[in-house]
Amino acid sequence: MPASELDETIQFPILKDEYLKNRHNKTFISMMPPQSDEDYSPQEMLSMLRQQVEMGADEALLDEPFVSSPSSGAVNAVADGQNNQLSEAPIAILAPPTLGQNETVLSPAPDMITDQNWAGCQDLEALRQACSNFDGCGLKKTASNMVFSDGNPDADIMLIGEAPGADEDRQGKPFVGVSGQLLDRMMASIGLTRSNLYISNIILWRPPGNRTPTTEEIAAFLPIMKRHIQLIAPKVIVTLGGSSTKALLGTQDGILKCRGKWHEFDHGNGTIPLLATLHPAYLLRTPGQKALAWQDLRMLYHHVKNF
Ligand code: URA
Repeated sequence: MPASELDETIQFPILKDEYLKNRHNKTFISMMPPQSDEDYSPQEMLSMLRQQVEMGADEALLDEPFVSSPSSGAVNAVADGQNNQLSEAPIAILAPPTLGQNETVLSPAPDMITDQNWAGCQDLEALRQACSNFDGCGLKKTASNMVFSDGNPDADIMLIGEAPGADEDRQGKPFVGVSGQLLDRMMASIGLTRSNLYISNIILWRPPGNRTPTTEEIAAFLPIMKRHIQLIAPKVIVTLGGSSTKALLGTQDGILKCRGKWHEFDHGNGTIPLLATLHPAYLLRTPGQKALAWQDLRMLYHHVKNF
């Protein structure tokens, strides 16, 4: 999109409908599941639900909802207090997530954590194949599919997220769920589509229950990502969220400190400009922060418009 056509005052679409639709289907994790609806007042349940949403609960962990009656006090309170689009929503109060018997995360084998092992992958297909044979991380055992990448391998812009979620795990492609839809809208707002982007995640298999990847898991995947970046050779990298930003920049600083400025990523044979921005899943939970993401998108737009 030529610069003249980009109205810098527009916000990228807020996706309010999708956000509500997603919340409509959401179930929430309760730290203290009540024995019955009567154990808590509607206000207390509403407050717990709000807290859980803020903590990022977004997935059913049990087959049966703990509380599912749309006529329950909590559901009505949510509907009354926020938006009656939620009035039919079954809201489940579930037990805290636990790792299943087969979900123990194995530490990466120390000999896998070297850049050297991946340098032999001469092209993307070789890297993909080597990754699918990679047994240095237990996440592979609990995931359905490896999620390697999507988009155009010849793109100048490489986006790097954290780890696949449930939809990505099912489809074997990064950013295909609700946060992926928001990502697509964000990129579209500066004239970019998956045909001029290349997208991957620092972690190639879904962590159980969408938990944050551990430091050991990220350490196991970082050399793979370095090789991935060398093979794609993008002109600019955009990290989405704290995990990929911290991993690639080797920093402990949080995403709110790192975002909104240009960094350099050193991939061993040179450096590539890196812009850190907020993760779309975070923006769905915290829509008030979308203005910050828009600032970052404008920085990206101005950087890439002359490529
Ligand atoms: N979140 C990510 O970080 N990556 C995905 O692919 C999906 C959600």
